[in-house]
Amino acid sequence: MTTTIRIKDAAQHVDEEVQINAWLTDKRSSGKIAFLQLRDGSAFFQGVVLKNAVSEEVFATAKELHQETSMTITGTIHEDSRSHFGYEIQVSDINVVGTSEDYPITPKEHGIEFLLDHRHLWLRSKRQFAIQQIRNEMIRATYEFFNNEGFIKMDPPILTGSAPEGTTELFETEYFDKPAYLSQSGQLYAEAGAMAYGKVFTFGPVFRAEKSKTRRHLTEFWMIEPEMAFMHQDESLKIQENYIAFLVQSVIDNCEYELTLIDRDIDTLKKYTKTPFPRIRYDEAIEMLQKANFDVKWGDDFGSPEESYLSEQFEQPVFVLNYPKAIKPFYMLPEEGRDDTYVCADLLAPEGYGEIIGGSEREVDYDKLKAQIEAKGLSLDEYEWYLDLRKYGSVPHSGFGLGFERAITWICHLDHLREAIPFPRMINRIKP
Ligand code: 4AD
Ligand code: MG
Repeated sequence: MTTTIRIKDAAQHVDEEVQINAWLTDKRSSGKIAFLQLRDGSAFFQGVVLKNAVSEEVFATAKELHQETSMTITGTIHEDSRSHFGYEIQVSDINVVGTSEDYPITPKEHGIEFLLDHRHLWLRSKRQFAIQQIRNEMIRATYEFFNNEGFIKMDPPILTGSAPEGTTELFETEYFDKPAYLSQSGQLYAEAGAMAYGKVFTFGPVFRAEKSKTRRHLTEFWMIEPEMAFMHQDESLKIQENYIAFLVQSVIDNCEYELTLIDRDIDTLKKYTKTPFPRIRYDEAIEMLQKANFDVKWGDDFGSPEESYLSEQFEQPVFVLNYPKAIKPFYMLPEEGRDDTYVCADLLAPEGYGEIIGGSEREVDYDKLKAQIEAKGLSLDEYEWYLDLRKYGSVPHSGFGLGFERAITWICHLDHLREAIPFPRMINRIKP
């Protein structure tokens, strides 16, 4: 029996007869030859059908294939120096498995709304294939990095009664006879985990009812939230930069083919594998923006234009340290010697991408934390369990959250977060 291989393994089967289970993405044919563009979910390559090398029936089948027909192809692998994949298959037999007619996404250009309406099919295209493979490599590398650093993954609940990142962007749902919310962040639970296991990370979906339509916001996105006991902010920043450098290096090492498919410049990415990353204070960031004629004053939060400008001033990702208290959540540790700032940092990605990480050292004192919860008008009832963490062996601890689609969008150099997740959820989109 002929072995069945995946296209990505073609190099190991040169001059062998093999079978491939694939779909047709495009086709060109003349009287004597047909070129079948094939994909099997592992890579894309070309099948060549020569009229005088196959039966009349097989050649006729080849000429009639429509886009997205699925089939089992038998043939011999050859090197093909003209394609950047490097190999092709000379076809000897074709067995159609599932027919396809009038496939909506043709090789022509389509508008973005049309493509999003057909996301279930759009995922098959070369570019979307490459992005999802890179996403998968970043998932793999995340587990590798945190496992190597002695973290365990801890899964926080998704149905919650609390709103750590503010109450304006909550999805409310019914939980039997009580209201509940879809989790905005696993952080408070990760803090409980850090007190139990030292170093933990979460990696799961979070939800924010973002009413604005921007290229940086989804209503459902994935976040990685590491939390470390007995750790101050400076050490947390080192973990953050090492993690980002490791993610980028892993993509460079394991996704060269995919990076070429999306034309991502590898030399640019290499700059992000060097640590440390620069650090500036929020105070300095405000000065930089004012010098560049942005209409901002101390105390303002940054919008996309401000973040883009700041990140464009650096070759590497840049940490902006110690934001004003008024624009950050209640759980952060106030900065010593200042009464208006927290010990926190956002990491801004270069090339204008803006914030990809938000993090801080946490308030450890029971009374101060309680006062901050009250000052933000949050219900003490909901946070009783969280306050317990400050009652029984409270220790300095720090953590951060990486917005996974933001990181993918930057590493892949995409225009919009919607391509970084298989099925994006945005203000006007919950289908497919
Ligand atoms: O800055 P944020 O709100 O921080 C937290 O949630 C903390 N609890 C994290 C922690 O310290 N454990 O969100 C973290 C990151 C942001 O830096 C951004 O990358 C991403 O999550 N993010 C979004 N990504 C996509 N769509 C949205 N609507 C996002 N909102 C935040
Ligand atoms: Mg933030």
